[in-house]
Amino acid sequence: MKTFPFASLFLLLLSICSSAQSFGHSLLPLFSLDPSYVNVNHGSYGSASKYVQEKLREYQMKAELNPDRWYRIDVQLEMNKLREKLSAYVNCDPDDLVIVDNASAGINSILKSLKFRSNETILYYNVAYGMVKLTLQYVSTEIFTQEQIVQIDLDHQTIQNTELLLKTTQDAISKIANVKLIVFDHISSLPSVRFDVETMIKYFRGKGILTLVDGAHALGGIELDLKKLDPDFYVTNTHKWLYTQRSSCLVYVRKDLQKLIHPIITSFGYLQSFQSEFFWLGTRDYSAYLTISDAIDFRRTIANESEIFAYNHQLAIQTGTLLARLWNSSTLTTDERYISTMNNIELPAFINTTEKMNDLYQKLINEHNIFLPMIEFDKKFYCRISAQIYMELSDYEKVGHIVLNAVSTMKFQRKITNMN
Ligand SMILES: Cc1ncc(COP(=O)(O)O)c(C=O)c1O
Repeated sequence: MKTFPFASLFLLLLSICSSAQSFGHSLLPLFSLDPSYVNVNHGSYGSASKYVQEKLREYQMKAELNPDRWYRIDVQLEMNKLREKLSAYVNCDPDDLVIVDNASAGINSILKSLKFRSNETILYYNVAYGMVKLTLQYVSTEIFTQEQIVQIDLDHQTIQNTELLLKTTQDAISKIANVKLIVFDHISSLPSVRFDVETMIKYFRGKGILTLVDGAHALGGIELDLKKLDPDFYVTNTHKWLYTQRSSCLVYVRKDLQKLIHPIITSFGYLQSFQSEFFWLGTRDYSAYLTISDAIDFRRTIANESEIFAYNHQLAIQTGTLLARLWNSSTLTTDERYISTMNNIELPAFINTTEKMNDLYQKLINEHNIFLPMIEFDKKFYCRISAQIYMELSDYEKVGHIVLNAVSTMKFQRKITNMN
């Protein structure tokens, strides 16, 4: 019998399922990661499953077989089917979502579309992703004024206490005229904290402030119910935690605001509808977008969504405890409500300057092939780990020991340098 690679992959998936599926290293063969690479940083770029990669190639082949048929008819039908399936997954009306390349494209489109009056203000937090801060800087120089964009600083206390966070935000709001929009993370990048966006959205709506939620890390990582959250704007990558092919990202816009939002590229859909404007941005490859549907199928062969969420969440918590013990340090929070699928662990005490932190970061990359994002937050130095279904606690333990060894050689090298 002739077996296609796609069919054999599916058989592998099925056999794993039928033999009492367990998370961890047994799932590694389903991804293309180099077996010698320990991926403690899934959060940055995600990883498409092999099944998804096969489907990607199928879509690309369909486009090559008959480009006219694909672009003029089939891809539009496929995208409509995809929006139906994805909207059921995130619980929203299919007409309220569009797909773009990445969170950067989604957030840029929204922030550059909004037109505010000179006395209206946008708020954001110090932990916003760099791209968000820079896009706000862009709009503050090109569209608005510097005074219209205001940063609110969160510290160790306010970042893990919604009540305090809202109090700090309210203090800022009371001093500023006409706050029109607030931008905040669902799960911030560095440090990585899960925010209670449901409460935040309700609070800001009560104040008449629009909400733009950067949920780059949410889809596939935690349960996402857009009807329940009811944001004004919500952007979430699918290529980070859902296992789709890069680049793909969901953008949700509340119905009555859709006419205000335009993609960065203007093309044939201009002024037709929210859907049309975002669908055709010139000739492009839609294959990665279409793999969202296959990624959802792939996940179903692994476990229930709630089991996937629980495994990654628990692994992130356990890893935090393990590394904090190993390094004689602490995690940024022990409150599980603020932990998603990533956790922040204070680095060993020797890493107490930005320079040493950067040295350690480079040393791990150059000498150990380990990518461990690091940040100074509120005068402490943390690394961020990502949990994932193909990882086990022993992976992080291994990396924890490598970090300890790397730090001890740094101490030794410093001693020698000091002696010279
Ligand atoms: C919180 C957050 N927002 C936005 C982004 C940007 O995502 P992308 O590079 O896919 O546009 C990232 C990327 O890591 C992120 O962590």
